Amino acid sequence: MIADRLARPLGSLRVSVTDRCNLRCRYCMPEQEYVWLPKQSILTFEEIARLVEIFTALGVEKVRLTGGEPLLRHDLATLTGMLAKNPAIRDLALTTNGLLLARQADALKLAGLGRVTVSLDTLRPERMQALARSDRHADVLAGIATARRVGFALKLNTVVMRGVNEDELIELVEFARAHQAEVRFIEYMDVGGATGWSTDQVVSQREMLEQLSRHYGTITPVGSGEVAAPAERFRLPDGATFGIVASTTAPFCRTCDRSRLTADGTWFLCLYAERGIDLREPLRRGASDAELSDLIAATWRGRTDRGAEERLGVVNRAPLYQVDGLRADPHREMHTRGG
Ligand code: GTP
Ligand code: 5AD
Ligand code: SF4
Repeated sequence: MIADRLARPLGSLRVSVTDRCNLRCRYCMPEQEYVWLPKQSILTFEEIARLVEIFTALGVEKVRLTGGEPLLRHDLATLTGMLAKNPAIRDLALTTNGLLLARQADALKLAGLGRVTVSLDTLRPERMQALARSDRHADVLAGIATARRVGFALKLNTVVMRGVNEDELIELVEFARAHQAEVRFIEYMDVGGATGWSTDQVVSQREMLEQLSRHYGTITPVGSGEVAAPAERFRLPDGATFGIVASTTAPFCRTCDRSRLTADGTWFLCLYAERGIDLREPLRRGASDAELSDLIAATWRGRTDRGAEERLGVVNRAPLYQVDGLRADPHREMHTRGG
Protein backbone atom coordinates (compact mmCIF):
# COMPACT_ATOMS: atom_id res chain seq x y z
CA MET A 1 0.00 0.00 0.00
CA ILE A 2 1.28 3.47 -0.76
CA ALA A 3 0.41 6.51 1.33
CA ASP A 4 0.60 10.24 0.73
CA ARG A 5 2.30 12.82 2.95
CA LEU A 6 -0.71 12.88 5.28
CA ALA A 7 -0.67 9.06 5.55
CA ARG A 8 -3.73 8.67 3.33
CA PRO A 9 -3.74 5.51 1.20
CA LEU A 10 -4.40 5.42 -2.53
CA GLY A 11 -7.72 3.67 -2.06
CA SER A 12 -10.37 4.86 -4.44
CA LEU A 13 -10.36 5.95 -8.07
CA ARG A 14 -13.13 7.84 -9.83
CA VAL A 15 -13.00 7.27 -13.54
CA SER A 16 -14.78 9.81 -15.72
CA VAL A 17 -15.66 8.18 -19.03
CA THR A 18 -17.02 11.30 -20.77
CA ASP A 19 -17.23 15.02 -20.07
CA ARG A 20 -20.59 15.24 -21.87
CA CYS A 21 -23.88 15.42 -20.05
CA ASN A 22 -27.55 15.35 -21.00
CA LEU A 23 -28.58 17.59 -18.09
CA ARG A 24 -27.60 21.12 -17.17
CA CYS A 25 -27.81 21.16 -13.38
CA ARG A 26 -27.48 24.69 -12.09
CA TYR A 27 -24.81 23.70 -9.54
CA CYS A 28 -22.64 22.01 -12.13
CA MET A 29 -23.30 23.13 -15.72
CA PRO A 30 -25.05 26.51 -15.57
CA GLU A 31 -23.61 27.99 -18.78
CA GLN A 32 -25.15 27.95 -22.26
CA GLU A 33 -22.00 26.70 -23.98
CA TYR A 34 -19.05 24.55 -23.09
CA VAL A 35 -15.57 23.75 -24.32
CA TRP A 36 -15.37 19.95 -24.62
CA LEU A 37 -12.34 17.69 -24.46
CA PRO A 38 -11.07 16.90 -27.98
CA LYS A 39 -12.38 13.60 -29.28
CA GLN A 40 -9.01 12.08 -30.06
CA SER A 41 -7.88 12.73 -26.49
CA ILE A 42 -10.60 10.51 -24.99
CA LEU A 43 -9.14 7.25 -23.67
CA THR A 44 -10.29 4.00 -25.23
CA PHE A 45 -11.72 1.25 -23.02
CA GLU A 46 -8.43 -0.64 -23.35
CA GLU A 47 -6.48 2.41 -22.21
CA ILE A 48 -8.82 2.94 -19.24
CA ALA A 49 -8.70 -0.72 -18.20
CA ARG A 50 -4.91 -0.74 -18.39
CA LEU A 51 -4.55 2.38 -16.24
CA VAL A 52 -7.07 1.01 -13.75
CA GLU A 53 -5.02 -2.18 -13.47
CA ILE A 54 -1.93 -0.15 -12.69
CA PHE A 55 -3.88 1.71 -10.02
CA THR A 56 -5.26 -1.47 -8.47
CA ALA A 57 -1.78 -3.00 -8.39
CA LEU A 58 -0.85 0.02 -6.24
CA GLY A 59 -3.72 -0.56 -3.82
CA VAL A 60 -6.90 0.92 -5.29
CA GLU A 61 -9.89 -1.24 -4.30
CA LYS A 62 -12.81 1.03 -5.10
CA VAL A 63 -13.58 2.21 -8.61
CA ARG A 64 -16.46 4.48 -9.50
CA LEU A 65 -17.47 5.31 -13.07
CA THR A 66 -18.57 8.92 -13.44
CA GLY A 67 -18.98 11.60 -16.09
CA GLY A 68 -20.37 14.05 -17.13
CA GLU A 69 -23.05 11.46 -17.55
CA PRO A 70 -21.31 8.07 -17.87
CA LEU A 71 -24.24 6.36 -19.59
CA LEU A 72 -23.68 8.66 -22.58
CA ARG A 73 -20.45 6.80 -23.28
CA HIS A 74 -21.25 4.28 -25.99
CA ASP A 75 -21.36 0.69 -24.73
CA LEU A 76 -20.41 1.40 -21.12
CA ALA A 77 -21.39 -2.14 -20.15
CA THR A 78 -18.40 -3.42 -22.13
CA LEU A 79 -15.97 -1.29 -20.10
CA THR A 80 -17.80 -2.35 -16.93
CA GLY A 81 -17.26 -6.00 -17.90
CA MET A 82 -13.56 -5.39 -18.51
CA LEU A 83 -13.16 -3.76 -15.09
CA ALA A 84 -15.28 -6.37 -13.34
CA LYS A 85 -12.71 -8.99 -14.39
CA ASN A 86 -10.09 -7.19 -12.28
CA PRO A 87 -10.15 -9.15 -9.00
CA ALA A 88 -8.51 -6.34 -7.03
CA ILE A 89 -11.63 -4.17 -7.32
CA ARG A 90 -13.85 -5.00 -4.36
CA ASP A 91 -16.29 -2.17 -5.08
CA LEU A 92 -17.31 -1.22 -8.63
CA ALA A 93 -19.90 1.55 -8.70
CA LEU A 94 -21.53 4.07 -11.01
CA THR A 95 -22.74 7.63 -10.44
CA THR A 96 -25.43 8.60 -12.96
CA ASN A 97 -28.22 11.13 -13.43
CA GLY A 98 -30.50 8.19 -14.22
CA LEU A 99 -31.93 9.39 -17.55
CA LEU A 100 -30.61 6.39 -19.50
CA LEU A 101 -30.51 3.92 -16.64
CA ALA A 102 -33.74 2.03 -17.27
CA ARG A 103 -32.42 1.03 -20.69
CA GLN A 104 -28.98 -0.02 -19.51
CA ALA A 105 -29.47 -1.40 -15.99
CA ASP A 106 -29.79 -5.03 -17.06
CA ALA A 107 -26.66 -5.00 -19.20
CA LEU A 108 -24.67 -3.24 -16.47
CA LYS A 109 -25.76 -5.77 -13.88
CA LEU A 110 -24.84 -8.65 -16.16
CA ALA A 111 -21.47 -7.03 -16.82
CA GLY A 112 -20.69 -7.08 -13.11
CA LEU A 113 -21.43 -3.57 -11.84
CA GLY A 114 -21.98 -3.69 -8.07
CA ARG A 115 -23.67 -0.46 -7.00
CA VAL A 116 -25.43 2.51 -8.49
CA THR A 117 -25.84 6.06 -7.20
CA VAL A 118 -28.48 8.18 -8.92
CA SER A 119 -28.66 11.97 -8.63
CA LEU A 120 -32.15 12.98 -7.56
CA ASP A 121 -32.45 16.60 -6.53
CA THR A 122 -36.21 16.90 -6.56
CA LEU A 123 -39.37 14.81 -6.74
CA ARG A 124 -41.16 17.54 -8.68
CA PRO A 125 -40.87 17.50 -12.46
CA GLU A 126 -41.37 21.27 -12.76
CA ARG A 127 -38.47 21.85 -10.39
CA MET A 128 -36.23 19.61 -12.46
CA GLN A 129 -37.08 21.77 -15.43
CA ALA A 130 -35.87 24.86 -13.56
CA LEU A 131 -32.89 23.17 -11.90
CA ALA A 132 -31.55 20.97 -14.70
CA ARG A 133 -33.31 22.26 -17.84
CA SER A 134 -34.96 18.91 -18.51
CA ASP A 135 -38.52 17.58 -18.71
CA ARG A 136 -37.39 13.99 -18.29
CA HIS A 137 -38.10 13.51 -14.58
CA ALA A 138 -40.12 10.37 -15.35
CA ASP A 139 -37.05 8.79 -16.98
CA VAL A 140 -35.04 9.29 -13.77
CA LEU A 141 -37.77 7.63 -11.71
CA ALA A 142 -37.93 4.77 -14.21
CA GLY A 143 -34.15 4.40 -13.95
CA ILE A 144 -34.32 4.19 -10.16
CA ALA A 145 -37.11 1.62 -10.26
CA THR A 146 -35.29 -0.52 -12.83
CA ALA A 147 -32.01 -0.36 -10.92
CA ARG A 148 -33.74 -1.75 -7.84
CA ARG A 149 -35.57 -4.38 -9.86
CA VAL A 150 -32.36 -5.78 -11.30
CA GLY A 151 -30.91 -5.91 -7.80
CA PHE A 152 -28.45 -3.03 -7.50
CA ALA A 153 -27.61 -1.59 -4.10
CA LEU A 154 -28.85 1.96 -4.59
CA LYS A 155 -27.98 5.39 -3.26
CA LEU A 156 -29.61 8.68 -4.16
CA ASN A 157 -27.64 11.95 -4.20
CA THR A 158 -29.42 15.23 -3.55
CA VAL A 159 -27.57 18.53 -3.75
CA VAL A 160 -29.49 20.75 -1.35
CA MET A 161 -29.81 24.41 -2.36
CA ARG A 162 -31.61 27.14 -0.47
CA GLY A 163 -34.67 28.40 -2.26
CA VAL A 164 -34.59 25.42 -4.62
CA ASN A 165 -35.21 22.12 -2.86
CA GLU A 166 -34.47 22.47 0.86
CA ASP A 167 -38.17 21.93 1.55
CA GLU A 168 -38.06 18.39 0.10
CA LEU A 169 -35.77 16.61 2.57
CA ILE A 170 -38.55 14.70 4.29
CA GLU A 171 -40.21 13.67 1.04
CA LEU A 172 -36.86 12.46 -0.26
CA VAL A 173 -36.21 10.42 2.90
CA GLU A 174 -39.62 8.80 2.42
CA PHE A 175 -39.04 8.23 -1.30
CA ALA A 176 -35.71 6.55 -0.57
CA ARG A 177 -37.29 4.36 2.09
CA ALA A 178 -40.02 3.27 -0.33
CA HIS A 179 -37.36 2.35 -2.91
CA GLN A 180 -35.01 0.61 -0.47
CA ALA A 181 -32.35 3.16 -1.26
CA GLU A 182 -30.26 5.46 0.93
CA VAL A 183 -30.49 9.17 0.25
CA ARG A 184 -27.48 11.40 0.84
CA PHE A 185 -27.96 15.14 1.13
CA ILE A 186 -25.01 17.03 -0.30
CA GLU A 187 -24.01 20.55 0.66
CA TYR A 188 -23.75 22.85 -2.36
CA MET A 189 -20.03 23.19 -3.14
CA ASP A 190 -18.06 26.02 -4.72
CA VAL A 191 -16.30 23.63 -7.09
CA GLY A 192 -15.50 23.83 -10.80
CA GLY A 193 -18.43 24.99 -12.85
CA ALA A 194 -20.54 26.21 -9.93
CA THR A 195 -20.22 29.84 -11.06
CA GLY A 196 -23.51 30.80 -9.40
CA TRP A 197 -22.43 29.58 -5.97
CA SER A 198 -22.79 31.79 -2.89
CA THR A 199 -22.67 31.00 0.84
CA ASP A 200 -26.28 31.98 1.42
CA GLN A 201 -27.46 29.19 -0.90
CA VAL A 202 -25.61 26.54 1.10
CA VAL A 203 -27.84 24.57 3.45
CA SER A 204 -25.44 23.23 6.07
CA GLN A 205 -25.41 19.75 7.55
CA ARG A 206 -26.45 21.29 10.86
CA GLU A 207 -29.46 22.98 9.35
CA MET A 208 -30.51 19.81 7.55
CA LEU A 209 -30.29 17.81 10.79
CA GLU A 210 -32.33 20.45 12.64
CA GLN A 211 -35.02 20.37 9.99
CA LEU A 212 -35.20 16.57 9.93
CA SER A 213 -35.21 16.17 13.70
CA ARG A 214 -38.09 18.66 14.04
CA HIS A 215 -40.10 16.22 11.94
CA TYR A 216 -38.75 12.82 12.96
CA GLY A 217 -37.41 13.27 16.50
CA THR A 218 -33.94 12.29 17.72
CA ILE A 219 -31.45 11.49 14.97
CA THR A 220 -28.51 9.22 15.82
CA PRO A 221 -25.18 9.18 13.98
CA VAL A 222 -24.23 5.71 12.74
CA GLY A 223 -20.93 4.59 11.27
CA SER A 224 -20.48 3.79 7.61
CA GLY A 225 -17.96 1.03 8.17
CA GLU A 226 -15.50 2.92 5.93
CA VAL A 227 -12.78 5.26 7.19
CA ALA A 228 -12.76 7.40 4.07
CA ALA A 229 -16.47 7.82 3.36
CA PRO A 230 -17.48 11.38 2.48
CA ALA A 231 -20.99 10.94 3.85
CA GLU A 232 -21.85 10.83 7.53
CA ARG A 233 -24.70 8.43 8.11
CA PHE A 234 -27.62 8.94 10.46
CA ARG A 235 -30.56 6.90 11.73
CA LEU A 236 -34.09 8.12 12.37
CA PRO A 237 -36.05 6.87 15.40
CA ASP A 238 -38.05 4.62 13.04
CA GLY A 239 -34.90 2.92 11.74
CA ALA A 240 -34.52 4.58 8.31
CA THR A 241 -31.00 5.78 7.50
CA PHE A 242 -29.71 8.63 5.39
CA GLY A 243 -26.40 10.38 4.78
CA ILE A 244 -25.07 13.91 4.60
CA VAL A 245 -22.00 14.92 2.56
CA ALA A 246 -20.86 18.09 4.30
CA SER A 247 -18.02 18.95 1.92
CA THR A 248 -18.61 22.69 2.29
CA THR A 249 -18.93 23.15 6.07
CA ALA A 250 -17.20 19.99 7.40
CA PRO A 251 -14.87 18.52 4.78
CA PHE A 252 -13.38 15.04 5.03
CA CYS A 253 -9.96 15.81 3.52
CA ARG A 254 -8.12 14.26 6.49
CA THR A 255 -9.18 10.79 5.42
CA CYS A 256 -9.60 11.37 1.68
CA ASP A 257 -8.21 8.38 -0.22
CA ARG A 258 -9.66 9.31 -3.61
CA SER A 259 -8.29 10.56 -6.87
CA ARG A 260 -9.84 11.11 -10.26
CA LEU A 261 -9.03 10.16 -13.81
CA THR A 262 -10.64 12.33 -16.47
CA ALA A 263 -11.88 10.94 -19.79
CA ASP A 264 -8.69 12.20 -21.47
CA GLY A 265 -6.38 10.54 -18.98
CA THR A 266 -5.56 13.47 -16.71
CA TRP A 267 -5.16 12.38 -13.10
CA PHE A 268 -6.35 14.71 -10.32
CA LEU A 269 -5.31 14.25 -6.70
CA CYS A 270 -8.12 16.43 -5.37
CA LEU A 271 -11.50 17.75 -6.46
CA TYR A 272 -10.11 21.26 -6.01
CA ALA A 273 -6.66 20.67 -7.52
CA GLU A 274 -5.53 23.41 -9.90
CA ARG A 275 -3.94 20.96 -12.30
CA GLY A 276 -3.71 17.26 -12.96
CA ILE A 277 -1.03 14.84 -14.09
CA ASP A 278 -1.10 13.87 -17.75
CA LEU A 279 -1.12 10.07 -17.92
CA ARG A 280 -2.30 9.93 -21.54
CA GLU A 281 0.95 11.28 -22.91
CA PRO A 282 3.21 8.57 -21.43
CA LEU A 283 0.53 5.94 -22.07
CA ARG A 284 0.33 6.75 -25.78
CA ARG A 285 4.08 7.25 -26.07
CA GLY A 286 4.46 3.59 -25.13
CA ALA A 287 5.49 3.75 -21.47
CA SER A 288 5.64 0.38 -19.73
CA ASP A 289 3.36 -0.58 -16.84
CA ALA A 290 6.32 -0.20 -14.50
CA GLU A 291 7.04 3.32 -15.71
CA LEU A 292 3.42 4.37 -15.34
CA SER A 293 3.24 2.74 -11.95
CA ASP A 294 6.37 4.56 -10.76
CA LEU A 295 4.96 7.89 -11.93
CA ILE A 296 1.66 7.29 -10.15
CA ALA A 297 3.29 6.01 -6.94
CA ALA A 298 5.79 8.88 -6.74
CA THR A 299 3.07 11.43 -7.36
CA TRP A 300 0.76 9.96 -4.72
CA ARG A 301 3.58 9.85 -2.14
CA GLY A 302 4.01 13.59 -2.59
CA ARG A 303 0.32 14.41 -2.25
CA THR A 304 -0.58 17.07 0.32
CA ASP A 305 -3.95 18.22 -1.11
CA ARG A 306 -6.72 19.29 1.27
CA GLY A 307 -8.72 21.38 -1.16
CA ALA A 308 -12.06 21.56 0.65
CA GLU A 309 -10.41 22.26 4.01
CA GLU A 310 -8.39 25.09 2.51
CA ARG A 311 -11.55 26.60 1.07
CA LEU A 312 -12.92 26.72 4.63
CA GLY A 313 -10.28 29.31 5.46
CA VAL A 314 -11.19 31.65 2.60
CA VAL A 315 -12.75 34.92 3.75
CA ASN A 316 -15.69 36.16 1.63
CA ARG A 317 -15.89 32.83 -0.09
CA ALA A 318 -17.02 33.05 -3.72
CA PRO A 319 -17.02 30.60 -6.67
CA LEU A 320 -13.61 29.07 -7.30
CA TYR A 321 -13.69 29.94 -11.01
CA GLN A 322 -15.44 32.35 -13.30
CA VAL A 323 -16.49 31.39 -16.82
CA ASP A 324 -13.26 32.61 -18.45
CA GLY A 325 -11.15 30.44 -16.19
CA LEU A 326 -13.28 27.41 -16.98
CA ARG A 327 -13.13 28.01 -20.73
CA ALA A 328 -9.35 28.37 -20.54
CA ASP A 329 -9.10 24.87 -19.05
CA PRO A 330 -12.19 22.63 -19.10
CA HIS A 331 -10.39 20.25 -16.72
CA ARG A 332 -11.49 22.64 -13.99
CA GLU A 333 -15.12 21.66 -14.54
CA MET A 334 -16.78 19.25 -12.13
CA HIS A 335 -18.40 17.53 -15.12
CA THR A 336 -14.88 16.83 -16.45
CA ARG A 337 -13.38 15.66 -13.14
CA GLY A 338 -16.37 13.48 -12.24
CA GLY A 339 -18.79 14.72 -9.55
P1 GTP B 1 -19.83 5.91 -1.80
O1 GTP B 1 -18.69 5.04 -2.14
O2 GTP B 1 -21.14 5.26 -2.08
O3 GTP B 1 -19.77 6.53 -0.45
O4 GTP B 1 -19.80 7.05 -2.87
P2 GTP B 1 -19.20 8.48 -2.85
O5 GTP B 1 -19.93 9.28 -1.84
O6 GTP B 1 -17.75 8.40 -2.78
O7 GTP B 1 -19.54 8.94 -4.34
P3 GTP B 1 -20.59 9.90 -4.94
O8 GTP B 1 -20.31 10.00 -6.38
O9 GTP B 1 -21.96 9.50 -4.57
O10 GTP B 1 -20.21 11.26 -4.25
C1 GTP B 1 -21.09 11.95 -3.45
C2 GTP B 1 -20.79 13.43 -3.46
O11 GTP B 1 -19.74 13.74 -2.55
C3 GTP B 1 -20.28 13.94 -4.79
O12 GTP B 1 -21.29 14.12 -5.70
C4 GTP B 1 -19.65 15.23 -4.36
O13 GTP B 1 -20.63 16.21 -4.16
C5 GTP B 1 -19.03 14.83 -3.03
N1 GTP B 1 -17.65 14.44 -3.25
C6 GTP B 1 -17.24 13.36 -3.98
N2 GTP B 1 -15.91 13.30 -4.03
C7 GTP B 1 -15.45 14.35 -3.33
C8 GTP B 1 -14.14 14.82 -3.03
O14 GTP B 1 -13.12 14.27 -3.43
N3 GTP B 1 -14.04 15.90 -2.25
C9 GTP B 1 -15.13 16.54 -1.78
N4 GTP B 1 -14.91 17.60 -1.01
N5 GTP B 1 -16.39 16.16 -2.06
C10 GTP B 1 -16.55 15.07 -2.82
N1 5AD C 1 -22.00 20.91 -5.25
C1 5AD C 1 -22.23 19.68 -4.76
N2 5AD C 1 -22.25 18.57 -5.51
C2 5AD C 1 -22.04 18.72 -6.82
N3 5AD C 1 -22.01 17.82 -7.82
C3 5AD C 1 -21.74 18.48 -8.97
N4 5AD C 1 -21.59 19.78 -8.73
C4 5AD C 1 -21.78 19.96 -7.42
C5 5AD C 1 -21.76 21.10 -6.56
N5 5AD C 1 -21.53 22.33 -7.02
C6 5AD C 1 -22.20 16.40 -7.62
C7 5AD C 1 -23.64 16.04 -7.31
C8 5AD C 1 -24.06 15.16 -8.43
C9 5AD C 1 -22.74 14.57 -8.81
C10 5AD C 1 -22.68 14.00 -10.18
O1 5AD C 1 -21.85 15.66 -8.75
O2 5AD C 1 -23.66 15.24 -6.16
O3 5AD C 1 -25.00 14.22 -7.98
FE1 SF4 D 1 -25.94 17.30 -13.40
FE2 SF4 D 1 -24.08 15.41 -13.23
FE3 SF4 D 1 -24.58 16.55 -15.45
FE4 SF4 D 1 -23.41 17.93 -13.64
S1 SF4 D 1 -22.54 16.18 -14.62
S2 SF4 D 1 -25.06 18.61 -14.94
S3 SF4 D 1 -24.40 17.08 -11.85
S4 SF4 D 1 -26.01 15.33 -14.24
